[in-house]
Amino acid sequence: MMTLTTDQKRYLEEWMTFLKIPSVSADPAYKDEVTKAAEWVNDSLRKVGCAHTEIIPTAGHPIVYGEYLINEDLPTVLVYGHYDVQPPDPIELWDSPPFEPIVKTTSLHPEGAVFARGACDDKGQMFMHIKAFEIMKNEGKLGCNIKFMIEGEEEVGSDHLEAFVKNNTTKLACDVILISDTGMISKEQPSISTGLRGLSYMEVTVTGPNRDLHSGLYGGAVANPINVLCEMITQLHDDQKRITIPGFYNTVKELSQTERDAMAKAPFSLNEFIDSIGINEVVGEEGFSNEERRTIRPTLDVNGIWGGYTGEGAKTVIPSKAHAKISMRLVPDQDWNQIGKLFSNHFKSIAPKGVTVEVQTHHGGFAYVTPTDSLAYQAAHQAYLDTFGIPPIPSRGGGSIPIVPMFENVLGVKSILMGFGLDSDAIHSPNEHYGLFNFFRGIETIPKFYEHYIKLRKEQT
Ligand code: BES
Ligand code: MN
Ligand code: MN
Repeated sequence: MMTLTTDQKRYLEEWMTFLKIPSVSADPAYKDEVTKAAEWVNDSLRKVGCAHTEIIPTAGHPIVYGEYLINEDLPTVLVYGHYDVQPPDPIELWDSPPFEPIVKTTSLHPEGAVFARGACDDKGQMFMHIKAFEIMKNEGKLGCNIKFMIEGEEEVGSDHLEAFVKNNTTKLACDVILISDTGMISKEQPSISTGLRGLSYMEVTVTGPNRDLHSGLYGGAVANPINVLCEMITQLHDDQKRITIPGFYNTVKELSQTERDAMAKAPFSLNEFIDSIGINEVVGEEGFSNEERRTIRPTLDVNGIWGGYTGEGAKTVIPSKAHAKISMRLVPDQDWNQIGKLFSNHFKSIAPKGVTVEVQTHHGGFAYVTPTDSLAYQAAHQAYLDTFGIPPIPSRGGGSIPIVPMFENVLGVKSILMGFGLDSDAIHSPNEHYGLFNFFRGIETIPKFYEHYIKLRKEQT
């Protein structure tokens, strides 16, 4: 295990206290806990000297806002993060309870890692910013204005944040948005996310007979909604694993060969990838590499499918209904509303006789890309270079943070995605964890960003 300074021990204890609050935004049963987490964030901002903090209620979960403004002539950095977490299910697959954080060592993390839901996504990564602020403030090194906006609905689509941002453009005015809610290539090879995919999340229901039927009395003569749903889902990809929805690729921005060559230079081992998730072969769209498939190409996946009898033993039944949750990851310049409509029209059009099909749209968001020649990106580059000793690689990410393109749209400000997570952190999965190395390296790297950003800004003027 890593030897920690007195301060580091305290940061770790505080982070673990935070992780004990089960702030699951998706489940109404946890509503009070989500509010408690907001209060915890608010208190911790206040304790480290944020001059002004507030908890702003929304029709959903509250937003925590804090600011420490020094001088309006100095640049302003807005830190965004989320204190809500994904549901811990399936709980039986956790080796230790998801809301009883524990430090354990692993082969990748001989220094130790904290295991808990939200350890990385995003309580751990967001908390690094609060501690970095504490350090900069205590050492008198904070040379700019800082604002924090920490929300509680990221994992459920940030439904109420857009209105808040639109109504508070002056309050949130800033020069750059800083976010740690993504990953890097490895502990040795830092990277900075230069992109995120968009998302369009749908739910479909196939309805057959008006009640569940005896499959002996009716089977053979009635369309079975589950059979039909599976056939329909199968048709959504062709044999080259391309998505068959008409118009789906119309606005997809293809990368130039130069950009693809640059991407291919990032260190990556297909064998390690395969081993790390226990599969025997990768599968994806023809003509694209593994890394391209999971970052710069759009996808369509079923997230859940249900209907009929799934209890103990056997029940002979033709179900009345079958359901599936289907999401599409999108790339520039796909419009998630448009894609939702294309999906909906197509899915209804392929419904065979004997069933009716309903399609419902859940949340969504646009993809995002950021240039590498901005001052803020250069500052992030220098920061990682300082603490890791090697230059970070710009890399497109496959996940989504819909609020990031929204910030660009509404505030006209780009975000810098300074993530310190690893793919192996198991975010959204059982046994989520975040390395002490990553946590403390993040706390060390963030102040370097401020230092370089302020310096570069001064040089510019
Ligand atoms: N922090 C993740 C997104 C992420 C993780 C991006 C790793 C890049 C690398 C975020 O909390 C998340 O899970 N986003 C959701 C989207 C949201 C609308 C539910 C996602 O990507 O599924
Ligand atoms: Mn996150
Ligand atoms: Mn997440």
